[in-house]
Amino acid sequence: MRQSLVVGNWKMNGTLATNKLLAEGIVAGLNASSESAACAVCVPFVYLPSIGDIVKGSRLGLGAQNIANKASGAFTGEVAASMLVEFGCQYALVGHSERRTYYGDTNQTVAERFCQAQEQGITPILCIGETLAQRENNQTFAVVEEQLDVVIALAGIHAFSKAVIAYEPVWAIGTGKTATDEQAQEVHHHIRSYIAAKDQTIADKIQILYGGSAKPDNAKGLFAMPDIDGGLIGGASLDAESFLQICHSI
Ligand code: PGA
Repeated sequence: MRQSLVVGNWKMNGTLATNKLLAEGIVAGLNASSESAACAVCVPFVYLPSIGDIVKGSRLGLGAQNIANKASGAFTGEVAASMLVEFGCQYALVGHSERRTYYGDTNQTVAERFCQAQEQGITPILCIGETLAQRENNQTFAVVEEQLDVVIALAGIHAFSKAVIAYEPVWAIGTGKTATDEQAQEVHHHIRSYIAAKDQTIADKIQILYGGSAKPDNAKGLFAMPDIDGGLIGGASLDAESFLQICHSI
């Protein structure tokens, strides 16, 4: 049985004060109920120390939203995996579609970030997914396969025993248009089969999260699908109550 996982992606939102309240609210909610998936929040870099203090010793894990593709040196504006470890980071998103679209992340730099995370014992959450145009051209499977291939080529398939995959159709992110349960399951199943062809044990074990306008009212249906092991939650993770509802709907 795979353990379920729900990860909040706060993106570039909130203030120190509001984000502390949000983290405190989530921790309190998780403490009040043992019935929930494993949960984590990926917070802006500058809030890692403060949110790290709040989640310490709780059931809420901590993650970053990006990670440098190099270990250290003259890379202005980047944050190294070794630095994130100092602040208790357990997870890092790599290759979120907003990084790919607005900041030039390529499959190659995403693969490098993935490796940097693992070298420091951080679990990379590899984000993959197709645009609307790619879906309409029946390229969804080819796109996710290529996104996976470049990481597999650099890191090796065994690296996926310590990684999480998030399938996020770009057309569903922040748009209010969720993939249907069946649409999401179809791609999750394809991703798992693609990995199974290389290593069945890893495919059986790896957590594949769905992301893209997941909310309390659609999470249950999505999470009931056999190959959907949880969610990567943007907008709905900015409210403690709705994030907790999603964590509890597994
Ligand atoms: P959303 O974002 O839930 O607001 O669509 C998901 C994500 O970008 O990870």
